[in-house]
Amino acid sequence: MHKVLVAGISGAIGSGIAGELLERDPSAQIIGLCRRPEKVPEAIARSPRVSLLAWDAADPGAAGALVDDLAGVLPAAEGVDDVIFAAGILHGAGLYPEKRVEDLEAGALAQAFQVNAASFSLLMRALMPWLRHRRFKRVVAISAKVGSISDNRFGGWYAYRSSKAALNMLVKTLSVELPRRCKPVACVAVHPGTTRSALSEPFAASLAQLEVHSAGQTATNILAVMDKLNESGNGRFYNWDGTELPW
Ligand SMILES: NC(=O)c1ccc[n+]([C@@H]2O[C@H](COP(=O)([O-])OP(=O)(O)OC[C@H]3O[C@@H](n4cnc5c(N)ncnc54)[C@H](OP(=O)(O)O)[C@@H]3O)[C@@H](O)[C@H]2O)c1
Repeated sequence: MHKVLVAGISGAIGSGIAGELLERDPSAQIIGLCRRPEKVPEAIARSPRVSLLAWDAADPGAAGALVDDLAGVLPAAEGVDDVIFAAGILHGAGLYPEKRVEDLEAGALAQAFQVNAASFSLLMRALMPWLRHRRFKRVVAISAKVGSISDNRFGGWYAYRSSKAALNMLVKTLSVELPRRCKPVACVAVHPGTTRSALSEPFAASLAQLEVHSAGQTATNILAVMDKLNESGNGRFYNWDGTELPW
């Protein structure tokens, strides 16, 4: 079996990836993490090849608490082949993309950093026993181009932008450590491209000038990037079309 852990499986991109994997790979066994399993599309949730586990990225203790549940559905010795981190927030209670520095709120900054960045690293810490096998493994964090420091020409979106930059640094740092401890491996960040989802919905009007993909198209694009990934891609930041982005 090809074992894939998808964090954020209830989201447009996470569920799109899970759905396509189930369709195209009969050997795919998916462990999906999300806050509310009832939000996961039925076709995915009822598949015998999917196990859903509750996980709240806003809770710093969530990944540690997950370990026993995960071991119950997948013993660590069997290992995970792919980790896809597709959870993230841009807006929500008390959080909205800031236009100017006066809009900054301490709580919103902390929330964005916890959900978009810290939760990824805490999840990876918890997953280390599942990554010690000798098969090639891929760790793919769905980041965002706005998290690129060198590409930042427009400013704004302080909390989201900087939390994605933090996620990128966590990916890069992990990509240095993982080959020493769980070779062969590729650990990368991927910009999914602008995608119709609950996260992008409030910005639909301004997205009109951009190329916007359906979640299904984005899932296909991300899986195509993953298909081409080998050890030499470790530590890179990829665009949805497979080209490289500057950190
Ligand atoms: N859509 C775009 O245009 C776009 C562009 C660039 C990057 N991205 C990135 O792509 C990723 C997926 O976004 P999407 O477009 O698929 O948005 P989405 O449909 O809103 O999905 C977001 C996912 O994150 C999960 N999430 C949020 N807060 C969480 C928490 N506290 N604990 C656990 N899970 C939590 C959501 O779970 P719940 O169902 O529990 O809320 C959902 O599964 C995000 O990291 C986003 O930043 C998206």
